Amino acid sequence: MTTMESTCTVCDGTGWKIVERAGLSGAERCVCAAATRARDLKESSNIPPNYEQASLDNFQMPADNPVARQGLGTVLMQVRSFTREFPTKTRPGLLLIGEPGTGKTHLAVAAMRALLDKGHECLFYDYQNLLDRIRSGYDAASGAADREAYRAALDVEVLLLDDLGAHRVTDWVEDTVTAIITHRCNQKKPLIATTNLTDEERVRDFAMPGGEKKTIRERTLAEMIGTRARSRLHEMCRVVNMPAVEDYRVRRVR
Ligand SMILES: Nc1ncnc2c1ncn2[C@@H]1O[C@H](COP(=O)(O)OP(=O)(O)OP(=O)(O)O)[C@@H](O)[C@H]1O
Ligand SMILES: [Mg+2]
Ligand SMILES: [Zn+2]
Repeated sequence: MTTMESTCTVCDGTGWKIVERAGLSGAERCVCAAATRARDLKESSNIPPNYEQASLDNFQMPADNPVARQGLGTVLMQVRSFTREFPTKTRPGLLLIGEPGTGKTHLAVAAMRALLDKGHECLFYDYQNLLDRIRSGYDAASGAADREAYRAALDVEVLLLDDLGAHRVTDWVEDTVTAIITHRCNQKKPLIATTNLTDEERVRDFAMPGGEKKTIRERTLAEMIGTRARSRLHEMCRVVNMPAVEDYRVRRVR
Protein backbone atom coordinates (compact mmCIF):
# COMPACT_ATOMS: atom_id res chain seq x y z
CA MET A 1 0.00 0.00 0.00
CA THR A 2 1.42 3.35 -0.95
CA THR A 3 -1.21 5.94 -0.07
CA MET A 4 -0.77 7.77 3.22
CA GLU A 5 -4.03 6.74 4.84
CA SER A 6 -3.62 3.03 4.10
CA THR A 7 0.08 2.54 4.89
CA CYS A 8 0.44 -0.65 6.91
CA THR A 9 1.35 0.20 10.51
CA VAL A 10 3.10 -3.13 11.05
CA CYS A 11 5.65 -2.84 8.23
CA ASP A 12 5.30 0.85 7.39
CA GLY A 13 4.37 -0.14 3.85
CA THR A 14 7.58 -2.02 3.07
CA GLY A 15 5.90 -5.44 2.98
CA TRP A 16 8.54 -6.74 5.40
CA LYS A 17 8.51 -6.80 9.16
CA ILE A 18 11.28 -7.45 11.64
CA VAL A 19 10.83 -10.51 13.80
CA GLU A 20 12.93 -11.60 16.75
CA ARG A 21 13.57 -15.29 17.01
CA ALA A 22 15.89 -16.86 19.57
CA GLY A 23 17.57 -13.53 20.08
CA LEU A 24 18.17 -12.94 16.37
CA SER A 25 16.23 -10.51 14.32
CA GLY A 26 15.24 -11.24 10.76
CA ALA A 27 12.86 -10.01 8.09
CA GLU A 28 9.59 -11.74 7.33
CA ARG A 29 6.85 -11.06 4.81
CA CYS A 30 4.13 -8.89 6.37
CA VAL A 31 0.51 -10.07 6.02
CA CYS A 32 -0.29 -6.90 4.11
CA ALA A 33 2.01 -8.13 1.31
CA ALA A 34 -0.17 -11.19 0.88
CA ALA A 35 -3.25 -8.98 0.81
CA THR A 36 -1.66 -6.73 -1.81
CA ARG A 37 -0.71 -9.75 -3.91
CA ALA A 38 -4.26 -11.13 -3.72
CA ARG A 39 -5.61 -7.74 -4.79
CA ASP A 40 -3.20 -7.44 -7.73
CA LEU A 41 -3.97 -10.99 -8.82
CA LYS A 42 -7.67 -10.26 -8.69
CA GLU A 43 -7.30 -7.11 -10.76
CA SER A 44 -5.58 -8.98 -13.56
CA SER A 45 -7.82 -12.05 -13.41
CA ASN A 46 -10.31 -10.84 -16.01
CA ILE A 47 -13.45 -11.59 -13.94
CA PRO A 48 -16.43 -10.19 -15.91
CA PRO A 49 -18.19 -7.28 -14.15
CA ASN A 50 -21.48 -9.16 -13.76
CA TYR A 51 -19.71 -11.86 -11.74
CA GLU A 52 -17.70 -9.35 -9.69
CA GLN A 53 -19.75 -10.25 -6.60
CA ALA A 54 -20.09 -13.99 -7.19
CA SER A 55 -18.85 -15.90 -4.16
CA LEU A 56 -19.44 -19.20 -2.42
CA ASP A 57 -21.08 -17.33 0.44
CA ASN A 58 -23.75 -15.62 -1.65
CA PHE A 59 -24.73 -18.75 -3.60
CA GLN A 60 -28.40 -19.18 -2.67
CA MET A 61 -30.28 -22.40 -2.06
CA PRO A 62 -33.85 -22.54 -3.41
CA ALA A 63 -36.21 -22.43 -0.44
CA ASP A 64 -39.21 -23.85 -2.29
CA ASN A 65 -37.70 -27.00 -3.80
CA PRO A 66 -36.16 -29.53 -1.38
CA VAL A 67 -34.72 -31.77 -4.12
CA ALA A 68 -32.98 -28.88 -5.88
CA ARG A 69 -31.89 -27.56 -2.52
CA GLN A 70 -30.20 -30.81 -1.62
CA GLY A 71 -28.64 -31.15 -5.06
CA LEU A 72 -27.21 -27.63 -4.99
CA GLY A 73 -26.05 -28.15 -1.41
CA THR A 74 -23.97 -31.13 -2.52
CA VAL A 75 -22.54 -29.17 -5.45
CA LEU A 76 -21.60 -26.26 -3.19
CA MET A 77 -19.86 -28.70 -0.84
CA GLN A 78 -17.91 -30.22 -3.72
CA VAL A 79 -16.77 -26.79 -4.90
CA ARG A 80 -15.83 -25.80 -1.36
CA SER A 81 -13.69 -28.89 -0.89
CA PHE A 82 -12.09 -28.28 -4.28
CA THR A 83 -10.92 -24.84 -3.15
CA ARG A 84 -9.94 -26.05 0.31
CA GLU A 85 -7.85 -28.96 -0.97
CA PHE A 86 -6.40 -27.07 -3.94
CA PRO A 87 -3.98 -27.97 -5.46
CA THR A 88 -4.36 -31.74 -5.30
CA LYS A 89 -1.88 -34.02 -7.09
CA THR A 90 -4.51 -35.92 -9.02
CA ARG A 91 -7.33 -33.99 -10.67
CA PRO A 92 -6.32 -30.46 -9.73
CA GLY A 93 -9.10 -29.05 -11.95
CA LEU A 94 -12.85 -28.65 -11.82
CA LEU A 95 -15.47 -29.25 -14.53
CA LEU A 96 -19.01 -27.97 -13.92
CA ILE A 97 -21.66 -29.47 -16.19
CA GLY A 98 -25.31 -28.39 -16.31
CA GLU A 99 -28.20 -26.54 -17.86
CA PRO A 100 -28.21 -22.77 -18.51
CA GLY A 101 -28.77 -20.57 -15.47
CA THR A 102 -28.00 -23.24 -12.88
CA GLY A 103 -25.07 -21.29 -11.46
CA LYS A 104 -22.04 -22.86 -13.14
CA THR A 105 -20.24 -19.63 -13.99
CA HIS A 106 -21.14 -18.20 -10.59
CA LEU A 107 -19.56 -21.19 -8.83
CA ALA A 108 -16.56 -21.29 -11.17
CA VAL A 109 -15.80 -17.62 -10.50
CA ALA A 110 -16.42 -18.11 -6.78
CA ALA A 111 -13.93 -20.99 -6.75
CA MET A 112 -11.45 -18.92 -8.71
CA ARG A 113 -11.83 -16.05 -6.26
CA ALA A 114 -11.07 -18.39 -3.37
CA LEU A 115 -7.90 -19.51 -5.17
CA LEU A 116 -6.92 -15.87 -5.83
CA ASP A 117 -7.28 -15.23 -2.11
CA LYS A 118 -4.88 -18.10 -1.51
CA GLY A 119 -2.37 -16.33 -3.79
CA HIS A 120 -2.81 -18.40 -6.95
CA GLU A 121 -2.66 -16.66 -10.29
CA CYS A 122 -5.93 -17.23 -12.20
CA LEU A 123 -7.34 -16.05 -15.50
CA PHE A 124 -10.96 -16.04 -16.67
CA TYR A 125 -11.69 -16.62 -20.34
CA ASP A 126 -14.97 -16.98 -22.07
CA TYR A 127 -14.35 -19.91 -24.43
CA GLN A 128 -15.77 -18.24 -27.52
CA ASN A 129 -13.97 -15.01 -26.79
CA LEU A 130 -10.67 -16.82 -26.24
CA LEU A 131 -10.96 -18.62 -29.58
CA ASP A 132 -11.82 -15.34 -31.32
CA ARG A 133 -8.82 -13.67 -29.77
CA ILE A 134 -6.49 -16.49 -30.65
CA ARG A 135 -7.75 -16.43 -34.22
CA SER A 136 -7.41 -12.66 -34.57
CA GLY A 137 -3.95 -12.92 -33.05
CA TYR A 138 -2.79 -14.36 -36.37
CA ASP A 139 -3.94 -11.17 -37.98
CA ALA A 140 -1.07 -8.70 -38.42
CA ALA A 141 -3.33 -5.79 -37.52
CA SER A 142 -4.37 -7.21 -34.16
CA GLY A 143 -3.11 -5.93 -30.84
CA ALA A 144 -0.43 -7.57 -28.73
CA ALA A 145 -3.10 -8.58 -26.20
CA ASP A 146 -4.69 -10.90 -28.76
CA ARG A 147 -1.39 -12.50 -29.60
CA GLU A 148 -0.77 -12.97 -25.90
CA ALA A 149 -4.10 -14.70 -25.31
CA TYR A 150 -3.00 -18.13 -26.46
CA ARG A 151 0.22 -17.99 -24.45
CA ALA A 152 -1.72 -16.88 -21.37
CA ALA A 153 -4.24 -19.72 -21.76
CA LEU A 154 -1.38 -22.20 -21.88
CA ASP A 155 0.76 -20.79 -19.12
CA VAL A 156 -1.37 -19.14 -16.45
CA GLU A 157 -1.35 -21.09 -13.20
CA VAL A 158 -5.13 -21.62 -13.15
CA LEU A 159 -7.27 -21.15 -16.27
CA LEU A 160 -11.04 -20.73 -16.08
CA LEU A 161 -12.65 -21.60 -19.42
CA ASP A 162 -16.28 -20.57 -19.32
CA ASP A 163 -18.90 -22.16 -21.55
CA LEU A 164 -16.66 -24.78 -23.06
CA GLY A 165 -17.87 -26.07 -26.41
CA ALA A 166 -20.15 -23.13 -27.16
CA HIS A 167 -18.76 -22.69 -30.64
CA ARG A 168 -19.30 -24.53 -33.85
CA VAL A 169 -16.62 -27.15 -34.32
CA THR A 170 -14.09 -26.76 -37.02
CA ASP A 171 -10.80 -28.59 -37.24
CA TRP A 172 -9.16 -25.37 -36.19
CA VAL A 173 -11.29 -25.08 -33.05
CA GLU A 174 -10.78 -28.72 -32.17
CA ASP A 175 -7.02 -28.49 -32.65
CA THR A 176 -6.77 -25.30 -30.61
CA VAL A 177 -8.80 -26.61 -27.69
CA THR A 178 -6.96 -29.92 -27.72
CA ALA A 179 -3.65 -28.07 -27.76
CA ILE A 180 -4.57 -25.92 -24.76
CA ILE A 181 -6.01 -28.78 -22.73
CA THR A 182 -3.22 -31.21 -23.63
CA HIS A 183 -0.53 -28.70 -22.74
CA ARG A 184 -2.15 -27.91 -19.41
CA CYS A 185 -2.73 -31.57 -18.68
CA ASN A 186 0.90 -32.47 -19.45
CA GLN A 187 2.15 -29.61 -17.29
CA LYS A 188 -0.34 -30.56 -14.54
CA LYS A 189 -1.78 -27.06 -14.69
CA PRO A 190 -5.28 -26.78 -13.24
CA LEU A 191 -8.25 -25.88 -15.38
CA ILE A 192 -11.68 -24.83 -14.18
CA ALA A 193 -14.31 -25.22 -16.90
CA THR A 194 -18.06 -24.89 -17.27
CA THR A 195 -20.27 -26.29 -20.00
CA ASN A 196 -23.91 -26.90 -20.74
CA LEU A 197 -23.17 -29.69 -23.16
CA THR A 198 -23.99 -33.17 -21.93
CA ASP A 199 -21.11 -35.48 -21.27
CA GLU A 200 -23.08 -38.63 -22.03
CA GLU A 201 -25.15 -39.38 -25.12
CA ARG A 202 -28.65 -38.16 -24.34
CA VAL A 203 -31.88 -37.74 -26.26
CA ARG A 204 -34.64 -35.31 -25.49
CA ASP A 205 -38.29 -35.21 -26.57
CA PHE A 206 -39.68 -31.98 -27.90
CA ALA A 207 -43.40 -31.32 -28.36
CA MET A 208 -43.88 -29.91 -31.84
CA PRO A 209 -46.67 -27.49 -32.72
CA GLY A 210 -49.50 -29.78 -33.74
CA GLY A 211 -48.91 -32.21 -30.91
CA GLU A 212 -46.43 -34.58 -32.47
CA LYS A 213 -43.26 -35.41 -30.57
CA LYS A 214 -39.81 -35.16 -31.94
CA THR A 215 -36.78 -36.85 -30.42
CA ILE A 216 -33.55 -34.95 -30.73
CA ARG A 217 -30.14 -36.23 -29.78
CA GLU A 218 -28.29 -33.57 -27.81
CA ARG A 219 -24.86 -32.42 -28.83
CA THR A 220 -22.21 -33.82 -26.56
CA LEU A 221 -19.05 -32.32 -25.15
CA ALA A 222 -16.99 -34.83 -27.14
CA GLU A 223 -18.65 -33.71 -30.38
CA MET A 224 -18.01 -30.07 -29.71
CA ILE A 225 -14.45 -30.12 -28.42
CA GLY A 226 -13.22 -33.48 -29.71
CA THR A 227 -12.74 -36.80 -27.93
CA ARG A 228 -9.10 -36.15 -27.05
CA ALA A 229 -9.81 -32.90 -25.22
CA ARG A 230 -12.77 -34.46 -23.45
CA SER A 231 -10.71 -37.42 -22.31
CA ARG A 232 -8.01 -35.16 -20.88
CA LEU A 233 -10.60 -33.03 -19.11
CA HIS A 234 -11.75 -36.12 -17.26
CA GLU A 235 -8.18 -36.97 -16.42
CA MET A 236 -7.45 -33.59 -14.88
CA CYS A 237 -10.78 -32.41 -13.43
CA ARG A 238 -13.19 -33.31 -10.70
CA VAL A 239 -16.53 -33.46 -12.47
CA VAL A 240 -19.47 -31.73 -10.81
CA ASN A 241 -22.92 -32.25 -12.33
CA MET A 242 -25.40 -29.48 -11.59
CA PRO A 243 -28.78 -30.77 -10.40
CA ALA A 244 -32.04 -29.94 -12.18
CA VAL A 245 -32.89 -26.49 -10.84
CA GLU A 246 -34.91 -23.67 -12.28
CA ASP A 247 -32.93 -21.14 -14.31
CA TYR A 248 -31.79 -18.58 -11.73
CA ARG A 249 -32.04 -15.78 -14.30
CA VAL A 250 -35.75 -16.58 -14.69
CA ARG A 251 -36.32 -17.07 -10.97
CA ARG A 252 -34.68 -13.74 -10.13
CA VAL A 253 -37.05 -11.63 -12.23
CA ARG A 254 -40.20 -13.22 -10.80
N1 LIG B 1 -27.80 -20.33 -6.51
C1 LIG B 1 -27.52 -19.08 -6.87
N2 LIG B 1 -27.41 -18.12 -5.94
C2 LIG B 1 -27.16 -16.84 -6.30
N3 LIG B 1 -27.02 -16.43 -7.57
C3 LIG B 1 -27.12 -17.34 -8.54
C4 LIG B 1 -27.37 -18.72 -8.25
N4 LIG B 1 -27.42 -19.40 -9.41
C5 LIG B 1 -27.22 -18.50 -10.37
N5 LIG B 1 -27.04 -17.26 -9.85
C6 LIG B 1 -26.86 -16.02 -10.59
O1 LIG B 1 -27.68 -16.12 -11.74
C7 LIG B 1 -27.00 -15.72 -12.92
C8 LIG B 1 -26.88 -16.90 -13.85
O2 LIG B 1 -26.04 -17.89 -13.27
P1 LIG B 1 -24.76 -18.44 -14.03
O3 LIG B 1 -24.30 -17.42 -15.00
O4 LIG B 1 -23.77 -18.92 -13.04
O5 LIG B 1 -25.41 -19.68 -14.81
P2 LIG B 1 -24.71 -20.72 -15.79
O6 LIG B 1 -25.04 -22.07 -15.26
O7 LIG B 1 -23.30 -20.37 -15.98
O8 LIG B 1 -25.56 -20.50 -17.13
P3 LIG B 1 -25.08 -20.63 -18.67
O9 LIG B 1 -25.03 -22.11 -18.97
O10 LIG B 1 -26.16 -19.94 -19.43
O11 LIG B 1 -23.74 -19.99 -18.80
C9 LIG B 1 -25.68 -15.16 -12.45
O12 LIG B 1 -25.84 -13.77 -12.26
C10 LIG B 1 -25.44 -15.85 -11.12
O13 LIG B 1 -24.67 -15.05 -10.25
MG1 LIG C 1 -22.22 -19.72 -17.64
ZN1 LIG D 1 2.48 -4.61 6.33
